[in-house]
Amino acid sequence: MRIILLGPPGAGKGTQSRLLMEKYGVVQISTGDLFRENVKAGTPLGKQVEAIINEGKLVPDEITIKMISERLDRADCKNGFILDGFPRNVAQAEALEKMLKEKGIKLDGVVRMEVDDDKLVERISGRFTCSGCGEGYHDKFKKPAQADSCDKCHANGKFTRRADDNEATVRERLKVYHGQTAPILPFYKSRGMLKIVNGMAAMEDVTAEIEAVLKPDSDSDKPPPPRMCG
Ligand code: AP5
Ligand code: ZN
Repeated sequence: MRIILLGPPGAGKGTQSRLLMEKYGVVQISTGDLFRENVKAGTPLGKQVEAIINEGKLVPDEITIKMISERLDRADCKNGFILDGFPRNVAQAEALEKMLKEKGIKLDGVVRMEVDDDKLVERISGRFTCSGCGEGYHDKFKKPAQADSCDKCHANGKFTRRADDNEATVRERLKVYHGQTAPILPFYKSRGMLKIVNGMAAMEDVTAEIEAVLKPDSDSDKPPPPRMCG
């Protein structure tokens, strides 16, 4: 599996990446996670990007493209990968196309996850993550079985919330998505690579739809009929 997951902030790209990663033994490449790891570790890259991320703006293309190119060269990408949060504008999509050609890598598809803006704000504002293992949770949609302990790694009291998940930054991130990221949809549609799934459905239904649209005989560049939200 070699795919791009596209969608606005809070669409569930990270959630689906982790589910597919476990199922298919591929790696998740999240530019947002890579930047946040650098910020946390205080690297020169982290220092360069911290303020940009906290404002919800895009990190300059040259930094992001170089980081992705180096990441794709690592051995763990050989079995497949899920690009989560990259590309995010037309220049990055063009650079990725060139880079994949040079590396001899072919994508299986580009999956767009559709979610209404109102729902996104609700999802982002309730989100928290285990700093032990990276598992994502939500105050309403995915609570840990025990309030203070991670279901996965059983770390206690290690939940964190992202600095860019406040309302003002979320609004800016949505503006950037609609203004800069959404224009890459025609880029992939014109190449016959775009697949659309309903990101409003329950998590496991979204996974099933992603698997369905990636089947070679699927021609889903139209949204599927709406499903009940779980
Ligand atoms: P990034 O980390 O990529 O953030 P984002 O795109 O805003 O996406 P999120 O991580 O917020 O959302 P998600 O779609 O992964 O949703 P999640 O699965 O967590 O980027 C952060 C910043 O880094 C950017 O603003 C920018 O500054 C910089 N950056 C990153 N990439 C860049 C690039 N290429 N170029 C330049 N700059 C870049 O789900 C959200 C919540 O909803 C969770 O709590 C989850 O449990 C819940 N949920 C998920 N699915 C469902 C469902 N089906 N039903 C109910 N709840 C659900
Ligand atoms: Zn954990």
